[in-house]
Amino acid sequence: MAAMRRLAPELLVTAKTQRWNPEEFLRTPVEAEITARDESNARTRLRQAAFPVTKTLEDFDVAASSIPTATFDYLASLEWVRAAENVCLIGPAGTGKSHMLVALGIAAVRAGHRVRYFTAAELVETLYRGLADNSVGRVIDTLLRNELIPVDELGFAPLDDTGAQLLFRFVAAAHERRSLGIGSHWPFESRGRFLPEHTTAVSMLDRLLHHCHTVVTDGDSYRMKQARANGGTRIKTN
Ligand SMILES: Nc1ncnc2c1ncn2[C@@H]1O[C@H](COP(=O)(O)OP(=O)(O)O)[C@@H](O)[C@H]1O
Ligand SMILES: [Mg+2]
Repeated sequence: MAAMRRLAPELLVTAKTQRWNPEEFLRTPVEAEITARDESNARTRLRQAAFPVTKTLEDFDVAASSIPTATFDYLASLEWVRAAENVCLIGPAGTGKSHMLVALGIAAVRAGHRVRYFTAAELVETLYRGLADNSVGRVIDTLLRNELIPVDELGFAPLDDTGAQLLFRFVAAAHERRSLGIGSHWPFESRGRFLPEHTTAVSMLDRLLHHCHTVVTDGDSYRMKQARANGGTRIKTN
C-alpha cells in the first residue's frame, strides 16, 4: 500500500479542512493506490517483454505503408490477442514489420497483456537450452504465460531439423491458446528455404496459419526512402 501510505498524511489534512465525507476520504486513497499499482505493473510488463527498441503505433505512418487502414485499425484494436489468434507480417526488408510487431506488443502491454518478444533465433536458442536439461515442456509452459509472443525474423537464418521440431512444439502448444506475432521476409510458399523437414514444416504452418491474420508489407524500404531524403538534402546544400 505504498501510494496510500505516502498520501495519507496530506489526505488527512485535506479531508479535515475540506470536510470530506467518509466515503470520499476512503475512495481517494484507494483509487490512488490502484492507479499506482497499474502503472508499476505496466512498467514491469514492459521490462519483461524485452523489446529491442521502442516503436509505437502512433509513430507508424499508415499512409506510407502498404497496410490498409482498416487492417491497421483491426490490429491496433488487439481483438486478435483476446481471441488468441495470430498475426503474420510478411514483406521485404525495411517495410515496417519489426516496427509493427514491437508497436503492437507495446500496445498490448499498455492494455494489460503479458508479452514476450523474441527473434526466431532467440526463441529457438531458448528452446534448445531446454533440450539440454530435458525441460522443453516447462520452458514452453513458461513462455505461454504470455498472452502475446512476437517472433520476428522468422526465416532469417535457416533452421536445422531439431530447431524446426522445437519450433513446431512451441507453435503447436500456442495454437488456440496464445497469440503469436510473426515477422518474416519469406512468403510462406518458400518455407522450404528455412524449414528443413517437409512434414514438420507443413504441420507447423498449418497451426500457425489456422487463426491468422496475414498482412503483407510491401513497397520501397522506409529506411531507403529516409536515406534518399537525407541524401537529397545534402546534395541541395552542396
Ligand atoms: N510506415 C512506417 N511509418 C513509420 N516508420 C516506419 C514505417 N515503416 C518503416 N518504418 C521505420 O523504418 C525502419 C525500418 O522498419 P522495420 O520495421 O525495421 O522494417 P522491417 O522489419 O520490415 O525490415 C524502422 O526505423 C521503422 O521505424
Ligand atoms: Mg525487421
